[in-house]
Amino acid sequence: MKIVHYPHPSLRHPGRPLTAIDKKVRLLVGEMLDLMYEAKGLGLAAPQVCLPYQLLVMNASADPDQRDQEGIYINPVILERHGSVEGEEGCLSFPGLYGKVRRAKTVTVRAYDLQGRSFDVTATELKGRVLQHEIDHLQGDLFIDKMGSVAKLSARGAIQEFERDYQKAQEHGDIPPDKEIEQLLVALEAGA
Ligand code: CO
Repeated sequence: MKIVHYPHPSLRHPGRPLTAIDKKVRLLVGEMLDLMYEAKGLGLAAPQVCLPYQLLVMNASADPDQRDQEGIYINPVILERHGSVEGEEGCLSFPGLYGKVRRAKTVTVRAYDLQGRSFDVTATELKGRVLQHEIDHLQGDLFIDKMGSVAKLSARGAIQEFERDYQKAQEHGDIPPDKEIEQLLVALEAGA
């Protein structure tokens, strides 16, 4: 498992709801948490590790010792949004890129935990922002889509550089052709 960078096709491939929460899912969650902490991220969504599933992990503290801040969300949906606030965001699939994004100030999210129990969380401030950013990933939406016009403009060069790096990696055979990745994603979806 590794974190893919923009413009890897998995990032635009919506995740499929998980129908069983079994040992396989628990293993994936453990690996995703390890990767997230290693990369010092606040959240990680399954499409970022080339898994087309409705699954995300987060910890707004980014601190593996603060396990009580950790969240595992399976098949999450946003039930309610309130207010609006702009804040700086980054993304593990865009290393080094930051930009301002407007989000709801407070969200209420319903999801399943690893025991298959449904739970509701109302999150605000940073936690609310991280949840909205990660849930967007599950639909194939990225924070560059939601940046304000100023942030978008200043991100343009960095985005083009990600595109060039990705193309180069494909030319060198470090990343398979997009068509192969799409086939892999469809095969993984069938096993959800
Ligand atoms: Co992200």
